[in-house]
Amino acid sequence: MFGKKKTTPSIDQEQLALIKAAEKRISQKKRLYIHFVFFLIGAVFLILANTILGIGKDFKIAGLDWFVIAIVLWLFLFIYHFITVFITHKFMDKQWEDQQREALVAKQQERIEQLKQEYIKEEKVIAKSQAYNDVLESKTTSEKKTSELTIIVAAGENDAIGKDNDLIWHLSDDLKRFKSLTNGHHIIMGRKTFESFPKPLPNRTHIVITRQSDYQAPEGVIIVNNLDDAIDAAKSDKQPFIIGGGEIYKQSMALANKIELTRVHSSFENADTYFPEIDETQWKEVGRSTHDADEKHAHAFSFVTYLRT
Ligand SMILES: NC(=O)c1ccc[n+]([C@@H]2O[C@H](COP(=O)([O-])OP(=O)(O)OC[C@H]3O[C@@H](n4cnc5c(N)ncnc54)[C@H](OP(=O)(O)O)[C@@H]3O)[C@@H](O)[C@H]2O)c1
Repeated sequence: MFGKKKTTPSIDQEQLALIKAAEKRISQKKRLYIHFVFFLIGAVFLILANTILGIGKDFKIAGLDWFVIAIVLWLFLFIYHFITVFITHKFMDKQWEDQQREALVAKQQERIEQLKQEYIKEEKVIAKSQAYNDVLESKTTSEKKTSELTIIVAAGENDAIGKDNDLIWHLSDDLKRFKSLTNGHHIIMGRKTFESFPKPLPNRTHIVITRQSDYQAPEGVIIVNNLDDAIDAAKSDKQPFIIGGGEIYKQSMALANKIELTRVHSSFENADTYFPEIDETQWKEVGRSTHDADEKHAHAFSFVTYLRT
């Protein structure tokens, strides 16, 4: 019951393999040795059989006694045996196999290491290009954000801009400037301003803001329900213009980056729509050109450009 537990010899696998290889080698050498002894005895026996016993005395091959041929053939066989045990085996024994295996494993590891390095390099390139794309994207986003949202307006000295849903003056050079500046761009306007036009202006993308959900407009005119959506609809444009009227100007003053103002040098007391006062702490005048009144222009006026400070 409490007998000693039988202990099993604990030889590790490598040692066991070495012992097996050594045993195999001993038996190989033993077999070669026996072969050698047999060869010697056999050779003597063949010589005696022929010379003493006279077996096949007259049998010759290529002028040689048959026992000479037989001994030579056996000698070759023995040499072959000797070679397999001492030469071939030496080159291709277990140690040689292990060396080959190790060399192969080392080669594979080298290749794996190389592939790892290539992968890391590639990862770095991908990460770099990813970072580049991120920068590009953020740049594009910031560009989008900082696209020059420009208010374009003509206002009297008292900031009057309209009456009865129409302009109060006709200044041909101002209209020309409006056309040239907005040409090819998105123009954002309130529904009332849009309705003050006889028809949409050519070569401009109209974005009309209305609270009406079913507002109908000619084909190509974009209808939105708030100013944010209007700006979003113009995001492909680097310089979308806010073209009025009074309500939309008020809402966009905080969002715009630039104001192209035509200051009409008269006061229009009968107006019903006004432009908000330009806060000089927030806007900086960066350009101005003045035009006197003439036969085409009833009022003197100045083109003034402001940038947000
Ligand atoms: N001197 C200039 O440079 C100049 C330039 C442009 C216009 N104007 C003049 O300005 C006058 C028109 O200005 P206005 O202030 O009366 O009208 P407006 O700004 O042109 O349009 C007002 C309309 O826009 C829509 N709207 C405004 N804010 C909105 C919001 N947050 N969300 C959705 N829709 C919104 C509403 O349309 P719904 O009612 O359809 O909901 C509102 O009735 C006219 O006399 C015009 O000639 C002058």
